[in-house]
Parts: sequence; structure tokens; C-alpha cells
Amino acid sequence: MTLIESFEKLDYSDALESSKEAQSWLDSHGRRFGQFINGKFENKSDADLIASLNPSNGDLLANIEVANPNQLKKAITAARKALPAWQAMGGHGRAKVLYALARLLQKHTRLVSVLETLDNGKPIRESRDIDIPLAIRHFYHHAGWAQIQEREFSEYKAIGVVAQIVPWNFPLLMLSWKIAPAIAMGNTLVFKPAEQTPITAMFFAHLCEQAGVPDGVINIVNGAGATGAALAAHEGIDKVAFTGSTSVGRAIRKATAGQSKKLTLELGGKSAFVVFEDADLDAAVEGLVDSIWFNQGEVCCAGSRLLVQAQIADKLHTKLKKRMQTLRQGTPLNKSVDIGSLVSQTQYQRVDELVQNGLEHGGELYQASATQIDGNYYPPTLITEIDSSHPLAQEEIFGPVLVSMPFRTQSEAVTLANNSRYGLAASIWSENINRAMDVAPKIKAGVVWINCHNQFDASCGFGGVRESGFGREGGKEGLYEYLQPKLLKKAAKPKPLKVELKDGNENIDRTLKFYIGGKQVRPDSGHSFATYNADGSLANWVGAGNRKDIRNAVSAATKASNWSNQNGHLRAQIIYFFAENLALREDEWIKRLKEICGLTRKQAKKEFHASLSRIFSYAAWADKYDGAVHDAPYRGVTMALPEAIGVLAQIAPEENPLITTVSLIAPAIAMGNRIVLIASERYASIALELVQTLETSDIPAGVVNILTGNKADLAKQLAGHAEVDGIWCWAKPEIVAQVESTSAADLKRLWVHIDGDRDWLDSQQGEGLEFLRNATEVKNIWTPYGD
Ligand code: NAI
Ligand code: MG
Repeated sequence: MTLIESFEKLDYSDALESSKEAQSWLDSHGRRFGQFINGKFENKSDADLIASLNPSNGDLLANIEVANPNQLKKAITAARKALPAWQAMGGHGRAKVLYALARLLQKHTRLVSVLETLDNGKPIRESRDIDIPLAIRHFYHHAGWAQIQEREFSEYKAIGVVAQIVPWNFPLLMLSWKIAPAIAMGNTLVFKPAEQTPITAMFFAHLCEQAGVPDGVINIVNGAGATGAALAAHEGIDKVAFTGSTSVGRAIRKATAGQSKKLTLELGGKSAFVVFEDADLDAAVEGLVDSIWFNQGEVCCAGSRLLVQAQIADKLHTKLKKRMQTLRQGTPLNKSVDIGSLVSQTQYQRVDELVQNGLEHGGELYQASATQIDGNYYPPTLITEIDSSHPLAQEEIFGPVLVSMPFRTQSEAVTLANNSRYGLAASIWSENINRAMDVAPKIKAGVVWINCHNQFDASCGFGGVRESGFGREGGKEGLYEYLQPKLLKKAAKPKPLKVELKDGNENIDRTLKFYIGGKQVRPDSGHSFATYNADGSLANWVGAGNRKDIRNAVSAATKASNWSNQNGHLRAQIIYFFAENLALREDEWIKRLKEICGLTRKQAKKEFHASLSRIFSYAAWADKYDGAVHDAPYRGVTMALPEAIGVLAQIAPEENPLITTVSLIAPAIAMGNRIVLIASERYASIALELVQTLETSDIPAGVVNILTGNKADLAKQLAGHAEVDGIWCWAKPEIVAQVESTSAADLKRLWVHIDGDRDWLDSQQGEGLEFLRNATEVKNIWTPYGD
């Protein structure tokens, strides 16, 4: 045998990590776990049990008791009771607890890694080097945020009792993503691990005792979907944070509609891995290994859609297949294994079925080895010869299955990347940084990696757009998901405007038109309704919008997409010009506000000037509300860029019509959104009277569209419209509930309120960063450097 031959035959020998310590830890708990409620472990002999298995060999690790409804209630009550003292501890007090949790986890790294691998089937290499270190990092990082909370978030307070539900793919890491920010900001919580992988959460519960977490601050309950559903919908919960499948995310959105709960959803994905002809192909191949074969492909942001420039497609596929043959799959505890087993037989069958059914629609399958159902080992898989409408290119498979499609030009790459109902992540591979930086903002996703994939850090926000959900975890943006403004004191309820309608004015035949696509247009229905002055006399006729008007307005807003690509300086100038034009009409407006709203001259003047100031504020912010560069522990920079949401529907409040209308329009367009605004019903004419000013202010056609009509009906149309990306809504509780429930279909991003939640004339409540944050979504772009 020549040296070369023996070198080529060299193989890794097995290097099994011992599970002795982990097994004896499970034994010491009788291989049975109940609930962790109010700082105590609770077992019930008559509980329903779920077996947690080692998916690679079917061994029973432990039986888990399903929490019963009384236990759920008890956990939620304990969390509620623990709130005041936990908040009174202050940032420093809480920081010490988070820090202690980080230290304790660090102390038990080996044991926790083995438990995680036993329970989930992931390679020990990954639990030891990725999951657990990142979980620890999350507690350290958020200990820091707790420490500086009073300074950095002085205008905010905790939300209250949070329900947190996670999936099985990164059990302890997802626990840390959920628990660390929530408790850092002073919330208390009830956490539910996935039924397939509850063990490390139970280990964590034991650490809570040692770390001095006060009783009731962290409660952990066990169970499957029914337990999760009961927890999320429970009236004692103020906020739900969920990670899991899009279908369950949708169910939670529906189940919590009308409950005034804050919600964040981290859902599925079908993330694009885009390789340009000028990419370093060997790096791209290794990137794919880390992208789709990391964690057996059971990763929400896995780069499961390879888009490769046509001229290098064959070359890349050849290299990739060669690499696939060297991936080692087997016993997860073997330290020289790259790919372990899928989490369960059910998951194995789901993946296999999706692939088999998918192949009936065409496609060429390449697998480097045979499937082995006994250990749930699904081999690394590549599917080529399909197009982007193919089910395998559209559905999340959640296994080690990569599909590949060619593209010709850069713009085609962007179109294909965005041809998905999801929008979680993407990676761009090119040695040309100009190209990569040009493409990154065009991709509809919450995270973009340049020449890397699956990079995570506590300092960088993570989360999606579209059906990948809403909200962010990690980064400063992730903390706002666990905070609410302190200042919001409920405004005095708007006076019920019961007017004695007067006869004799009905002959006014002026009907104010809608403003759609830069033009004043008549309502499609041909129907109008009367609006009245404060004294009961007729003010104006306004149109009653219908489905067709909504369609036209949304279509105009969609077409005005160029506004989102403009720079802040340009948007600022236009918004200043809007204010300037409004100022010219001061006398007219004061008269209108007096007549329509029944204000005194002094009050009308105050509202008018506050409105002008508000528009100025957002013109000022247009080029100042910018992003951040994060110091994540890698050689590179991560840029966090606030991006416009896109087409934003706005349902205006019923109070203070002038200032509320500008308070919605100005921040939204300052951040680059295009809006469809539904005016208040009582004061419908005021919003339409703004149109003349908008028309003369150089705001491009379609950026602002204004309709009037039945709010409940129009809000429902907007919530159900596929091209509306987000909704701001101030309305009656029934309308808010309707918007929340209808928007579940495509998981629009919502910011909803019951009318009268704030004093709009107060500049602390009626304007500011809260509005800008809700007008944007942060995209994190990871750019490593060095050779
Ligand atoms: P799942 O979404 O049903 O489970 C995630 C968590 O939600 C678990 O803790 C579960 O007990 C809980 N849950 C289930 N139904 C619930 C409900 N109605 N209300 C509240 N909580 C509920 O995911 P599952 O069934 O484990 O996996 C099914 C498929 O979902 C996978 O094949 C994969 O395609 C996808 N998935 C995607 C994830 C992602 O992060 N993108 C994570 C997990 C699954
Ligand atoms: Mg398990």
C-alpha cells in the first residue's frame, strides 16, 4: 500500500462520549419528571405520561407527566404572585440571578450536552460546541441587559406573565432564547418544552433552585399540543412567545384573538442559499454542510433551497455530492459523527413521506447512503431538476433534504429567493462584496448571512417576516418584545358624541372623495354617508368604501414600492414639505376643528400646532432612526438595519382626528412604508380634508391612500388581503379581535389597540420610538471578514 493509498483509506475510529453521568442523573430522578411550579417539583401518581425516548435507539430516557388544568392554573398564579417582588429586585438583582444561571450551566456543560444529545438525537459535537455554549452565552448577555435596563429602557416596564412554548430541535437553546430576555426585563413565566425533548428543561429547573431564582418566577410545565394550547389561551397570560411550526403559530394567533395578548411567533422557513458564479465554491460546499446538514436539517432557518447560478451549477453539484459521501452519520454520542438521528420516528416518516410524495411531481434524488429507519437516520439528500413551484421547493421539510434550482441573473436570484410564503433567513455566497451587499436588502427575510449560514448570537436579533412569523429574539429588538411603555396612562375616554341631528342641511351635495394612487376617486359602491359637525349639522358626505376600493388602494400602495427604497434624507424633505403646506392652512383647519370636533379656538389651535410639530418630528427621524453594528463573537460585523414593513394598513382612532391621522401617517411613511388608512368613522371628513395638502406635498402616488367607510368591514378586508404586510389598528375590541383572527391566515404583523389607550396630544404617548419600531422590522446582516 502506498502512502497515498493508506492516507485515502484513513478513517475515523469511534469516539463515544460516555453517557454514564447522564444516565445516573436520570436514575436519580426515578426517570420520571412532573412539573416545576412555584419553585417546587410536583409529581402526581395519576398523571398521564409521555415517554421521552432516545430517538437513535428507542431507549426510554424518562416518563414525563402531563400537567393537568389545575397545575397549569397553579403555575400561572405562581408567576403572577412572583411579579412584584421580582420587579422590585431591580436590574442588578435580576442580573445576579441570570449570571448565576449562566455559571451553573457552564459548570455542567458536559452533562447537559449529553442529556441533550440523548433526548434529541443530535450529534454530541453540535450540542457540546454549539447548543449549550450559545445557551450559556444567552444568559450572560441578558444578565448584562438586566443590569443596564433602568438606564437603557427607562421608559418601559415588563409585560407581566409570559407563556413560552418551544419545539424540540434546540431544546435548551430555545429555552435560553425564551427565558433569558423575559426574566431579565422583569417578567415572570410559564415555560413548556416540547414533549419529545423535555429533559434538559427539567435539568434547568434544578439549576433554578441553585441559582436563587425566586419561587414562581420560572415555572416549567410538561405536555404536548393540548397543554400548549391551554397555556397560550389562558386568561392569566399577558404575552405568548412561541417557536414551532407555522400551522401551530397560526392556531395560537387565532386562539388568542381578542385577548389583548402580546404575541411573538418564530415559525417555519424555506430559506434560500444563493450561490453566485463568483463564489468560493469550496467554501459554499462547507457552508451547505453547516446549513442543511447541521442538526439533521431540523432547523427553522436551514438553507434548504439552494439557488445556484446556472454556469456553475454542475460544478457545484459535483463537489457537493462528493462532500455528501464523506459526511458521517450514526450514533449521536460518537464524537466523530456529523449527522445524528431525526428526533422521532414520526419526524422520520414525515420527512420520508414529503420526499416520496414530492418526487411524484418530478425531480432527481441523490442520497449518499441508504435510509435507516431503525435509528431514524435519514441520509443527507439532494434533489435537483425541479422548479420553484415544485412542492419540495415550497414546503418546509425539516430534515436533511436540500433542493437545488438554477438561476441566470442577479435579479432572477432575488425573485426566486423571495418566491416563498416564508421569510426567515437567507445566505448569499459571492466573493464580490458589492454584489452581496446589493442583494442582502432585497431579500425578504429577517436574517441574511453573507458567505456563512446558521450563525447565531445573543447580541443579534433573529426572527422572520411573512409566514415565518413576527417579533425578534436576541438583540435589543428582542428585549422590546418583553416590554411595554410605562407612560401610557389611559386618556380620558372620548366624549360620546351624541348629536341631535339637524334638518335642513342635507342639500349639501359635496361628497369628499377617497385618495387612492395619488388621485381623488369616487367610491366604487356609489354609496356615501353623512358626517356631522359638533352641533349636529351636516359636515360632509363621504364615501362608503367596499372590497373593490380596498383592492385598488392596496394595489396602489404595492406599486409604490420605490418609496421603501428611497433614502431617509429624501423622505424627510417631503415630510417637512407636507408640514409646511399644512401650516399654510392654519385658519381653515382651526375653523374645521371647531366646527367638527366642537373644540374651542384655543383647543383647536393646540391640536393644530401639536400636529405640525408631530409631522416635523417624523421628518426629523426619517434619516436618524437607523441601525446598529453588533459585536458578536466572530470575525465580522453584524449590521442590524430597520427596514420598512411594506404595505401597512392603518385603522385610525376615533379621537382627535387631525393629530391621530398625522400621528399614524407620518412615522409610517418616514420609515418607508406605503399606507392604506381607514379614517375614523365619526370624523371621516377630517382625514379626507388632509388630501389636498398631501397632494401638494410631493408625496409620490400610492404612498398614502385614504378611505372612509365602515371600519369593521374595511378592517376585515385589509386583514384578509394577501398584499398587506402589517396592520396598525385603533378600534373597538370586536374589531381588534376580528383583525387578529383574520390576519392569522398569513400571519401579518400587527400593532393593535383599543380606542382611547393614550393621550394623543401628549408627545410622550402620541409619538416617538414606539411608533418607529412598529413601522419597521430589523434585518440582521452577517458579514464575516478575513481569509
Ligand atoms: P409543533 O409546532 O406542533 O410543536 C412545537 C411546540 O408547540 C411543542 O412544544 C408542542 O407541544 C407545542 N404545540 C403543539 N400544538 C400546539 C397548540 N395548538 N398550541 C400551543 N402549543 C402547541 O411542531 P411538531 O409537531 O413537533 O413538528 C411538526 C412539523 O413542524 C415539523 O416537521 C416541522 O416541519 C415543523 N416545525 C418547525 C419548527 C421551526 O422552528 N420552524 C419547529 C418544530 C417543528
Ligand atoms: Mg426525546
